[in-house]
Amino acid sequence: MSIKIISTGSYAVGKKLNNHMLSKIVDTNNQWIVERTGIESRYIAEDITTEELAYNSCKKAIEKIDINLDEIGLVIFSTVTGDTSVPSSSFTISGKLGIKNAVCFDLNAACSGFIYSIAVANSLIKSINFKYAIVVGAERLSKYIDWKDRSTCILFGDGAGCAILENTCYNNNINLTDNDNFIDIVKNSISEKKIDLELIDTIVGGKYDQKRYLTMNSKYSIEDDDYYIKMNGRQIYKFATDIGIKIIDDLLKKNNISKKEVCMIIPHQANLRIIETLADKSEINLEKWFVNLSKYGNTSSASVPIAMDEAMRNFDFQSNKGRYVIMLAFGGGLSYGGVLLKIN
Ligand code: COA
Repeated sequence: MSIKIISTGSYAVGKKLNNHMLSKIVDTNNQWIVERTGIESRYIAEDITTEELAYNSCKKAIEKIDINLDEIGLVIFSTVTGDTSVPSSSFTISGKLGIKNAVCFDLNAACSGFIYSIAVANSLIKSINFKYAIVVGAERLSKYIDWKDRSTCILFGDGAGCAILENTCYNNNINLTDNDNFIDIVKNSISEKKIDLELIDTIVGGKYDQKRYLTMNSKYSIEDDDYYIKMNGRQIYKFATDIGIKIIDDLLKKNNISKKEVCMIIPHQANLRIIETLADKSEINLEKWFVNLSKYGNTSSASVPIAMDEAMRNFDFQSNKGRYVIMLAFGGGLSYGGVLLKIN
């Protein structure tokens, strides 16, 4: 059985808040932020909900390919800033997309949420036999930022990104006398699918953040009504660089793949210094690491799919055929995960 990523989409709108504008709100400056993080600006989504951000990224991914919406059996929405609890935002997104019947749920694994969601989708597609699945990550972190805290407000931003997964061995018991179905099958077989990334392996894990290095309370917490993001930057930095190396090593060892065979790494876009340290420690040239955080900041579970969507736009699939892409993330929980993909 083969599961593939066949399309991606991303969406970020709102005010583009650059470091110079931020330095008028808190005691900071462009040089400090760029040197310590690599971030230059971030989107602040003002008149749009998290669900709408997610919906728009999904719409873009769907428009790139020719699929029958009725065959999308699974929608997983990764977020820590969802709009509703019931129905879960995933249902609202699927309804707006026109999907009539799908397993829908929201997933919270903080910045590792998209990777966790890919891992869960991979398992569910196999066990329940879905043809297509949508995995989307979207965040409106700007609503949970203390704009007086210069150690956190410089880091985060809003946005959404999504991937569509296809099960190439889907068994739908098609009745070939049914004309409508037949037309859909023909449409699928002739559609041009530019992205063809085979899902080889996933790793997910977590270590309980007992010392509360990274927290964001629910707005309705009865223990603490302060819902702003709080972080011990140094400790999270250490966790990210240690676990990032372990994810890469484990994925390569488990699948008997050499570093040379990896042509691209799409890491969680938290901080350029974390990415540079990971490149250095893993001995995988920094040129192979896709980085777009200067434009978006850290968008939590939207960060990897936004980066993936941008990375795939000009990607030379032909000359990289047979090579590998690794996506990896780490974050609150403390959660972590990685995905190994093969270019077909
Ligand atoms: N502008 C100017 N100065 C700032 C500042 C800002 N925005 N934020 C903090 N400072 C100051 C501090 O007050 C401190 O001053 P002091 O030495 O006079 O006390 C000094 O800069 C160093 O602060 P520190 O927190 O030790 O800096 P750092 O080198 O650890 O960098 C982070 C801070 C947040 C950039 C860094 O720890 C980091 O990137 N951590 C990982 C965060 C992350 O990616 N989290 C999400 C993971 S999912």
